[in-house]
Amino acid sequence: MTDTLAQTDEARVRADDRAHVFHSWSAQALIDPLPIASALGSYFSDYAGKSYLDFSSQLVNVNIGYQHPKLVAAIQEQAARLCTISPAFANDARSEAARLIAELAPGDLNQVFFTNGGAEATENAIRLARLHTGRHKVLAAYRSYHGATAGAIAMTGDPRRWGAEPSIPGVVHYWGPYLYRSAFHASTAAEECERALQHLRDLLMVEGSHTVAAIIFETVVGTNGILVPPDGYLAGVRAICDEFGIVMIADEVMAGFGRCGEWFAVDAWGVTPDLICFAKGVNSGYLPLGGVIISDRIAESFQQRPYPGGLTYSGHPLACGSAVASINIFKEEGIVEHARRLGTEVIGPGLRVLAERHPSIGEVRGLGVFWALELVRDRDTREPLVPYNAAGAAAGPMNEFAAACKERGLWPFTHFNRTHVVPPCTTSADELRSGLAILDEALDTADRYYTGA
Ligand SMILES: Cc1ncc(COP(=O)(O)O)c(C=O)c1O
Repeated sequence: MTDTLAQTDEARVRADDRAHVFHSWSAQALIDPLPIASALGSYFSDYAGKSYLDFSSQLVNVNIGYQHPKLVAAIQEQAARLCTISPAFANDARSEAARLIAELAPGDLNQVFFTNGGAEATENAIRLARLHTGRHKVLAAYRSYHGATAGAIAMTGDPRRWGAEPSIPGVVHYWGPYLYRSAFHASTAAEECERALQHLRDLLMVEGSHTVAAIIFETVVGTNGILVPPDGYLAGVRAICDEFGIVMIADEVMAGFGRCGEWFAVDAWGVTPDLICFAKGVNSGYLPLGGVIISDRIAESFQQRPYPGGLTYSGHPLACGSAVASINIFKEEGIVEHARRLGTEVIGPGLRVLAERHPSIGEVRGLGVFWALELVRDRDTREPLVPYNAAGAAAGPMNEFAAACKERGLWPFTHFNRTHVVPPCTTSADELRSGLAILDEALDTADRYYTGA
C-alpha cells in the first residue's frame, strides 16, 4: 500500500465515521476516533504506520492478542462449513463450545446459555435467578459495571447508569470490599472482609432476605478499579447465599478466561457460584459471544417449564467455533499460566518499582494481566489525581498522562484517576517491560500535580 493510498483511505474512513457512525458513550461532536489500519499480537497500528502496544486489550477483551493465525484459520474453516443455524437446532460448534466451557467451569456448572455479549449474559442471569427462586430483588455492587441493556445497567454501580434512570425496579446496591477507599473505615484486609460481609447481612435484614433472588458481583471488579476481593470475602458471600437461599452470580465478563491468570477468577479463591457470566476473553471478541454457565440445581428448574428467554443468534456457530478454537489454543499454548506468571514475575514487581519512583502512585493492585495504578495528589490524604467521574478540564491531568503514553507508542486504559495495565494475556515479558518503561516516563506528568509531602 502506498502512502498516498493509505492517506486517502484514512481520510475516507475518518469522514464516513464522522458522518455516519454514532459512537457509544460519547458526545458525537467532541470525539475524533483514530482510524486503525491493522493489528497483530499485542500491537495495533494507525494509517501513518505508527504502532501502539495495547495496554488496554481494547475493552479488556483481546485476551489472545490480535490476529492469532490459528484462531483466524478456525473461523475461516467454520465459515466455509456453516455460517449460521438457529438456536433451536443442535450444532457441533455450539455443543463443543458448551462442553469445553462447562468442563472448565467449577463444580456443577454444567450448562451454558449463549448470548452475544456480556450485557445479555447478566440480563439472563438475573432472569434465571428470579424464576428459580420466585423472588425479585437483586443485590448489586456500587463501583461495578454489568452492561448497558435495561437490567444490566440497572445493576451497574457507576455513572454509566445515571442516564438510564429510572431503571428497572428491584435492584439494591451494596458496597463491596475496597480497602484503599474503604466504605467501612477498615484498616486491614481482614477487617474490610468482615465488615463488607456484615454490611451484606444488614442489607438482607432490612430488605427482607426472602425477597432477594440474587447477589451479583464482579469477581475482581474491572473498569471500576481492579478491586481484588480480600481472602475470605467470596467464601463469605457463598455462605450468605446458602444461608438465605439466594443465587450467587459471578460476573466474569472481564475477569474470566485468563485475565486473572485463571480460567475463571473464582478459581483463585476456590469458590463455586451458582451462575457465571462470561463474554470478552472467551474468544477475544473475534466474533460477538457471551453466555451464562448454569449450575445443575438452577438448570433443573427449567426441565419441565420453559425458560422464557432467547436470542436469534444464541450459540451462533461462527462465534462458538471461534470459542472452541480459542479455548484449545489457550490450552496448547499455556496462555492462562503465562498470564499468571506475567502478573507475579513482571507486572506486579514492575509496577511496585514504579511506585517507588513516582509519588503520584497511591496504590498498585491486581493479579494476572489485570492491574491498576491508583493515581493521587497526596499519598496521605489519598486525594485522587482527578475527581470521581471527572470530565473536561477537571480530567486534564489524566488526559495529559494518556497523551504522554500514546506519544510514546503505548495505548493505556485510563478510568477516572487510574490507569490499568491490562494487555493481552499473550504479551511477552519483554513487550511488557517496554510498556512499563513508557509508563515510567509518562507518569512524570502525573507527578507534576503531586501536592503531598
Ligand atoms: C464485568 C462486565 N460485565 C458486563 C459487561 C458488558 O459486556 P458487553 O459490553 O459485552 O455487553 C462488561 C463490559 O465491559 C463488563 O466489564
